[in-house]
Amino acid sequence: MESSIRNIKLAPEGQKKIDWAKESMDILNQILRKYKRQSPLENYRVSICLHLEAKTAYMALALSELGAEVTICGSNPLSTQDDVAAALVEKGITVHSWYGASMAEYKEHIKTVVDSKPHLIIDDGGDLVEEINSRKPELIENILGGSEETTTGIHRLESLEKENRLKFPMIAVNDAHSKYLFDNRYGTGQSVWDGIMRTTNQVVAGKTVVIVGYGWCGKGVAMRAKGLGARVIVCEVDAIKASEAWMDGFRVMKMEDAAARGDIFITVTGCCDVIRTEHFQKMKDGAILANAGHFDVEINKNDLEKCSLQMEKVRKNITQYTLPEDKNLYLLAEGRLVNLAAADGHPVEIMDMSFSLQTLSLIHLTNNSDLECGLHKVPDNIDQQVARLKLESLNLEIDQLTEEQKKYLNSSSG
Ligand code: ADE
Repeated sequence: MESSIRNIKLAPEGQKKIDWAKESMDILNQILRKYKRQSPLENYRVSICLHLEAKTAYMALALSELGAEVTICGSNPLSTQDDVAAALVEKGITVHSWYGASMAEYKEHIKTVVDSKPHLIIDDGGDLVEEINSRKPELIENILGGSEETTTGIHRLESLEKENRLKFPMIAVNDAHSKYLFDNRYGTGQSVWDGIMRTTNQVVAGKTVVIVGYGWCGKGVAMRAKGLGARVIVCEVDAIKASEAWMDGFRVMKMEDAAARGDIFITVTGCCDVIRTEHFQKMKDGAILANAGHFDVEINKNDLEKCSLQMEKVRKNITQYTLPEDKNLYLLAEGRLVNLAAADGHPVEIMDMSFSLQTLSLIHLTNNSDLECGLHKVPDNIDQQVARLKLESLNLEIDQLTEEQKKYLNSSSG
C-alpha cells in the first residue's frame, strides 16, 4: 500500500535519529537477536497507532525484521516527526501520518491503517480499537489481538469490556510493572520537563509548579519539579493519592486555591476540564499552562478562548492568551502532550523497556491464539524478562534466594 507522509526527502535526517535511538535500545536489540531466526511474526500484518518518533520507528523496524508486515500512523496530530516517518518509508514500512495533521486528516490516517486488515495491533490511547469496533467490525474475526500502551487507552478498553464490546484480546502493556514504574514515572517525569524547558527557555527553580493528578505520571513530574528547585503543589481528586502527595512532601490543595499561586500548571489526570474558566480567571499574569495527559481536553481551550480578548502565537509551541487587565496566560503545544508535541517523548532507555514489552506481547499473542476476548495482563514471565534484560544491559547483578529462603517464604510458619 502507498504511504502518505509529508516529505520523503527528509529521510536521511530521520534515519540518523533512528540510528541514535537504536544504540541505546539494548533490550529490544537482545530480543531481536534472540528471535530473529525464528521469524515469529512472519505472515502477520501488524497495524500500529503510536507517537511516531525515532524509538517507535525502531520498534516498527524490529517488528518488520521479525517477519511482520507493518503499517503505522501517529497517535496524536502533533507528535509525528516527518523526517522519521520518511525514513521508515525508505525502509519499506507503510506510514500514514504527518506532523500538524488536521483532525480530519488524523482520522483518515487511522482509518487507512485499519484498512490494511491487521492480524495484530498496537494502540496508544485506544483510537485503533475504536476505529475497528465502530467502522470495521468485519475485521475482528481475523484479529488475533493487540496491546495498549497508555493509561487512557486502558480506561477506554475497560469501558468497552464492561459494555461487552471488546471482541478480541488486548494486552495491557501500560499496566506491566516494567512499564508504568519506569515509563509513566521516570519517562514522563523527564520528558515533560524537557518539553517545557526547551519550549519556554525559562527557569524552574523558585517557581511554584502546580501538578494536577498524582498517578504514576504525576508522581514523576512532581518528583522532577522538586529536583529542579520548584515549590510544588499537587491537586488530586483521590484521597489516597492526595495523602501520598502530602507525605511525599508536596502541598496539597484544591485547584481553585492553587490557581492564584501557580507559575506553571501541568495537567496529568486523563480527565477533561481540570483547568477551566474559574481557574483561568484567578491565575497570575505570565502563568504557563502545559498538558501531559493523552488528550487535549484537560485544559479547557474553549473556556480559555472565551476568557480571552486576543490570542497570538508568540514562539514555537507557545500561544499567548490575553485576558482583561492585560493578563497573559501561555498555553504550550496547543494543550496537547507537551513531551511529544514540543519534545521527543520519553528517553530512549525508557521506551526500550516499553517497546520490548510491546514486542514480546505480540509474540505472546501469536503463540496463544486461543486467548479470550477482553483485557489481559502482560504475563509475569514477560514482565520479569524485560526487567532482567534491563539489569543485564546495565551490567547489574542481583542476589538469588537460597533453597532455604524459598522454603521459608513458602511456609506458613514464622
Ligand atoms: N515515544 C513513543 N511513544 C511514546 C509514549 N507513549 N510516551 C512518551 N514517549 C513516547
